[in-house]
Amino acid sequence: MPATVIIGGQWGDEGKGRVVDFFARSCSVIARYSAGSNAGHTIVNELGKFGLHLVPAGIFHADTTCIIGNGVVVNPQTLIEEIEMLSSRGVDTSRVRLSDRAHVVMPWHLAIDKLDEQLRGERAIGTTGTGTGPAFTDKAARLGIRTIDIVKPEALEEKLSFILPYKNRVITELYGGEPFDYDEVRADYLEYGRQLRPYVTDTAALVQDAQDRGEQILLEGAQGTLLDLDSGTYPYVTSSLPTSMAAGACLGVGVGPTAIDRVVGVYKAYQTRVGDGPFPTELFDDDARLLRDHGVDQGTGEYGTTTGRPRRCGWFDGVLAGYTARLNGVTSVALTRLDVLAQFERVKVCVGYELDGKRLESLPPALLEASAVRPVYEELPGWQQDVSHIRRLVDLPPEARRFVRRIEELIGVQVDMISVGPEREQAIVTRDIFGVPL
Ligand code: GDP
Ligand code: IMO
Ligand code: MG
Repeated sequence: MPATVIIGGQWGDEGKGRVVDFFARSCSVIARYSAGSNAGHTIVNELGKFGLHLVPAGIFHADTTCIIGNGVVVNPQTLIEEIEMLSSRGVDTSRVRLSDRAHVVMPWHLAIDKLDEQLRGERAIGTTGTGTGPAFTDKAARLGIRTIDIVKPEALEEKLSFILPYKNRVITELYGGEPFDYDEVRADYLEYGRQLRPYVTDTAALVQDAQDRGEQILLEGAQGTLLDLDSGTYPYVTSSLPTSMAAGACLGVGVGPTAIDRVVGVYKAYQTRVGDGPFPTELFDDDARLLRDHGVDQGTGEYGTTTGRPRRCGWFDGVLAGYTARLNGVTSVALTRLDVLAQFERVKVCVGYELDGKRLESLPPALLEASAVRPVYEELPGWQQDVSHIRRLVDLPPEARRFVRRIEELIGVQVDMISVGPEREQAIVTRDIFGVPL
């Protein structure tokens, strides 16, 4: 059975965790393939509200195997705490598997993340400060330590004996920071390794075996395509590949590109971004506040799951959405937070840009120029009524249906799921993508 990838179509926080939690019931393997604990996926279901950074959002369904693939960088302390938190709230975590080739976030990665942002000054990226970027840098620089190394004392000692003094020189001589103590790091990471040993395995083999048995596999993306190192708003991007393309999803879990036959693009009904970088439809007025603070009392306002930072908010950008859909080969759209737009008399969607007085129908050649473009909006009538209880497309107000149709046209792909609230069942499924009964 082929695999399905769930990706973010914007700048992250589109509701991927919520969409994975919804569809995971039809899958036997759920695998995270990229990023690290910079990701924050919120799930609200019958057990309560959860913010996950590393464990796949499929964990709430019994009988699923939840894999943290080799493409993920893992802060072992965060993972141990997440597993403990889930267990303490009644979730069976014995189904978590951690790739033996996943790279580990070391204390110098956290330090360098902060020191680097300081050094960049005005050009700071606004990272999550989770050490994820520096861990990916060291992976590419061949200075990484993998989970297989922390479960074996000799392997850890051998790696640390070279890497720790190397990193201490960089930190003290380049950044003027404090060095790390070999014995302390060794003791901490051997303890992490001891606690994580039961989960560490060759996860690529697990995914491939499940594939051979014809089981449904769901690959859970993190972040969004516009944060992709190659295809996003470089340099205001993350350090990994959130896209569904071979380098992202396939490599991140160990399957070939022919294994993937469905790509679900998760898009919010408007646009948000945390951190710096261009955002053509960004709003700074009362409308931004209305978008940001909807649901804030229930903990589902637009504030970062990982850092708590307020998210920048703006209208849906149809130009960027079409770009990310084509790039990922999106076959199905899940449109989230439609309920949030109920508060507006009129809603806007960006259908093009103007640059130096000229109309652009597609993306400027350098995405970064997006900061200089002026969005061209189309206004649609709002529906101004609560839709969070609606479960069938026909029951949506005609204005809301018209909005969804316009989003479909702009993305160029059918909307198969509409999310109208943070809770698992607050969804309208219009096409049976995973065998979930309509
Ligand atoms: P992710 O990183 O893509 O998984 O998204 P986040 O979890 O960081 O952010 C999405 C936020 O929106 C979370 O607070 C979710 O609980 C919430 N959410 C998801 N879908 C909906 C929806 O349809 N309506 C509302 N009101 N909230 C939603
Ligand atoms: P989820 O999976 C939103 C952003 C950061 C910053 C940039 C680089 O929850 O959608 P990093 O710490 O990765 O080096 O920061 O990327 N960023 C995210 N924004 N959602 C995320 O993940 C993000 N992960 C990273 O805010 O702008
Ligand atoms: Mg998030």
